[in-house]
Amino acid sequence: MKIFLDTADLSDIRWASQAGLIDGVTTNPTLLSKHAGDVDPQDVLQEICSLVDGPVSAEVVAVDADGMYGEGRELAKLADNIVVKIPMLEDGMLATRRLVADGVKVNVTLAFSSVQCLLAAKAGATYVSPFLGRLDDIGHDAMEIVREARQMFDNFGLETEILAASIRHPRHVAEAALIGADVATMPTAVLKKLLLHPLTDRGLDQFLNDWSKLVARAKVNA
Ligand code: G3P
Repeated sequence: MKIFLDTADLSDIRWASQAGLIDGVTTNPTLLSKHAGDVDPQDVLQEICSLVDGPVSAEVVAVDADGMYGEGRELAKLADNIVVKIPMLEDGMLATRRLVADGVKVNVTLAFSSVQCLLAAKAGATYVSPFLGRLDDIGHDAMEIVREARQMFDNFGLETEILAASIRHPRHVAEAALIGADVATMPTAVLKKLLLHPLTDRGLDQFLNDWSKLVARAKVNA
């Protein structure tokens, strides 16, 4: 499963990219609003695209087909690795179809059911993003939607990649991988949690303590 970082924080992206941990980045208007400060969001997106050797999702803010298409075309000019994020709307499907026909990659976002995922695939999206955490927040079984979408895509050989989004914790990542999501996009905090285990810390403390004892003994015997 590919891992994308769900952020517009440049230093986090730089770290994760240099560590070879991520295959791409996803952003949205909320994340850009949080991290862009006074910088033009298009400049931030271009910077992100230069930091990552992989797709970078950038979202339109229009909600009509012509507006989404026009914004999508402009976003696609920012860098070769831009993927245009289009919301799961009736007009969004029209915009997706037109962008795909122009050779622009599309990530259909704000998907909350398996049949929405199916329609995004029919429209030709490269990715579809079911939002796991937001579904869990309202008491739904988010993983069931990913499971159903996986089965549907496999049944009919649909090539759209399932991009598990709105990930809140490492179990979301593990379950998405087991079900066969193609990608999981996660905040930096979740990526860092994947690294952690208390037994790793305890084991390292013990190794370092024992090594200090050995060094101290060697000094005494020298
Ligand atoms: O980028 C889309 C998605 O991952 C947002 O997640 O945490 O705002 O529900 P969240």
